[in-house]
Amino acid sequence: MLKQPIGVFISGRGTNLQSIVKACKLKDFPGKVEIVFSNNHEAAGLKFARKNNINVITLDYSKYKDADDYDKEIIRLLKPHKLKLICLAGYMRILSKKIINQYPDKIINIHPSLLPDYKGLNTHRRVIENNETITGCTVHYVNQELDGGKIILQKKVKIDDDETEISLAEKVLKEEHAIYPEAIRLVLTR
Ligand code: GRF
Repeated sequence: MLKQPIGVFISGRGTNLQSIVKACKLKDFPGKVEIVFSNNHEAAGLKFARKNNINVITLDYSKYKDADDYDKEIIRLLKPHKLKLICLAGYMRILSKKIINQYPDKIINIHPSLLPDYKGLNTHRRVIENNETITGCTVHYVNQELDGGKIILQKKVKIDDDETEISLAEKVLKEEHAIYPEAIRLVLTR
């Protein structure tokens, strides 16, 4: 199967990156991680990328004038890689219009809630505080609205009575690792 080049953007530990790389190793998976980008040169996920011989680019935001300027440089550096898809996986910066317009319908994200509920940060804490019984995770297209683009795939997770933020995060993350590769397959074969 022809493997289309994917870029993965991370800021931290990179367990979703790991699940994507693992899926890409399957013969019949339509993508291959061509590049990992991070705004944080200390992101733990970079170690994993390097170990797996994946190209890594890091850029320090504080060296740029503003988000447009920063994303312009990302676009310039990504261009030679001819990416068919960009997967945000725990990337903690909001993308500017510039990069979203450069890759129309080619940027996706994973979020640890059942969108459109619980956009933004600290989703598990808010879900528990609100005594929800069901939560989950969502893979969606990225547009200008935070966590607001079209939904590609969701998976529900049941919340137990004695659930803590930590136990819930663990349960949801396990499902994230299953649905992100599945969503990538869907998008790349659409
Ligand atoms: C995940 O929970 C993801 O849903 C959110 O950030 C976290 C990243 O975790 N956007 P990891 O870096 O992939 O381990």
